[in-house]
Amino acid sequence: MTPDLLEDGAKRLQAFEQRQADPAGSSGGRAAAFGRVARLGEPDFAHGVALYLDEISVSFDGFKALNKLSLAIDVGELRCIIGPNGAGKTTMMDCITGKTRPDAGKCFFGSTIDLLRLSETDIAQIGIGRKFQKPTVYEPLTVFQNLELALRADRRVRAALFSRLSGAQLDRIGEVLALIHLKGEAQRQAGLLSHGQKQWLEIGMLLMQEPRLLLLDEPVAGMTDAETERTAELLLSLEGRHSLVVVEHDMTFVDRLTQGRKTVTVLHEGSVLAEGPLAEVQANQKVVEVYLGR
Ligand SMILES: Nc1ncnc2c1ncn2[C@@H]1O[C@H](COP(=O)(O)OP(=O)(O)OP(=O)(O)O)[C@@H](O)[C@H]1O
Ligand SMILES: [Mg+2]
Repeated sequence: MTPDLLEDGAKRLQAFEQRQADPAGSSGGRAAAFGRVARLGEPDFAHGVALYLDEISVSFDGFKALNKLSLAIDVGELRCIIGPNGAGKTTMMDCITGKTRPDAGKCFFGSTIDLLRLSETDIAQIGIGRKFQKPTVYEPLTVFQNLELALRADRRVRAALFSRLSGAQLDRIGEVLALIHLKGEAQRQAGLLSHGQKQWLEIGMLLMQEPRLLLLDEPVAGMTDAETERTAELLLSLEGRHSLVVVEHDMTFVDRLTQGRKTVTVLHEGSVLAEGPLAEVQANQKVVEVYLGR
């Protein structure tokens, strides 16, 4: 990269980190945050649970957006969450990532990390990646440079901001480029990608930081059928290695992701209405009523 691009890159890296940790742009003090994460240590997944919500409640001006929501996601699980508009799906992700503080309940990452005690910055650094609907790719930079920035935002390689990429880091970028189907576009400016490709690049940027848990809110909204299918393939290829929580309205996509057997969670009025394979929950009378009633 030219010095100009590097300087630009450093600024963008800062913005990327800031956005990951604090999308609302309200907090600071990153140096302190790194110290805290070091003290917290690695999350403990020995019991097989990646994420555990217990009776989480959130009110906005007396309106209960989440009402004693309880949910457990296994390590390596791919869980789809569906539910009508306003069910509380995005609010749930806001609670997991520290953007919204619940009024009551528990929220644990692994068996030891109490997410309600951590800042948004800490939560991002401890291995929870969130894909926002609004794209966060840096359009003037190439696909490769975007992934490189995300890699350098990783706490483990922060010191090496201006150093050359190691062989292992180049390998990792290559691996992610292949996963997100953008190997042939590595030197292309991100701004020239299709909507679907930008979404994959954003997922790739999250993957560079090797999150244990990935939260995706409506990842295929606005995608073509072919892009949706490729996104399903991508997420299925991540299952096992990462735990994934996917909120989606597109039932064909949910069916593809769950392959007729995985658990789907239906949220309604801030709590779990039903849980089970997609065909089963879709045949559930309460679920049918909730969807018809919107
Ligand atoms: N910051 C806020 N202030 C007030 N009300 C809010 C706030 N955030 C969410 N809500 C309300 O909480 C409820 C749940 O919203 P949420 O965005 O979580 O739903 P959702 O399931 O993600 O819906 P959609 O499928 O439309 O994205 C809605 O009634 C919404 O209007
Ligand atoms: Mg939502």
